[in-house]
Amino acid sequence: MNRAIEKIIMDEKVIQNQVRELGERISSDYEGETPVLVCILKGAFIFLSDLVRNMSIPVELDFMMVSSYGDEATSSGIVQIKKDIDTDITGRHVIIVEDIVDTGLTLDYLYRYFANHNPASVKVCAFLDKPEAHQVDLKIDYLGFEIGNEFVVGYGLDYAQKYRNLPYIGILKREIYE
Ligand code: IMP
Repeated sequence: MNRAIEKIIMDEKVIQNQVRELGERISSDYEGETPVLVCILKGAFIFLSDLVRNMSIPVELDFMMVSSYGDEATSSGIVQIKKDIDTDITGRHVIIVEDIVDTGLTLDYLYRYFANHNPASVKVCAFLDKPEAHQVDLKIDYLGFEIGNEFVVGYGLDYAQKYRNLPYIGILKREIYE
């Protein structure tokens, strides 16, 4: 285990089982369609790549990078688009693929952003959710796991751009960020 990690809360096996189930569920819900999966960078890149390899229907992929004004730990809800998608989503089924929902402000913004482009539908797939931290009402259509209000890293998630490559989800030792 990485020395900066206090505790592993989901190991590789648990993650892979859950992602396989999500991929199968989405494939069955979208049977006969070709949804556009939009990966929210950078955090969702590993989740997206595992998810699509567990899907049996054709998919199109696109990538969006956003940043939210505020410091490392708090989200202000003002979202800046750093890289937009290239796909014309008019009439398309869009699935937003997020790493983690904390306050929910980023996802709330993204949902409305995509919904304004006349898609056939917009759904949300998030790997992790911290329900206690929500500041807005949200519907997560496909969810990996609910967690408590703690700061986690690994499986794409970072602290100060590090730890994204850990194959598990772990709680960071307090001494690393205090
Ligand atoms: P929200 O707008 O507050 O829901 O913020 C969501 C974004 O904050 C995520 O996409 C992550 O980039 C970041 N984030 C929130 N909680 C964590 C965490 O525990 N570890 C790593 N990143 C986090």
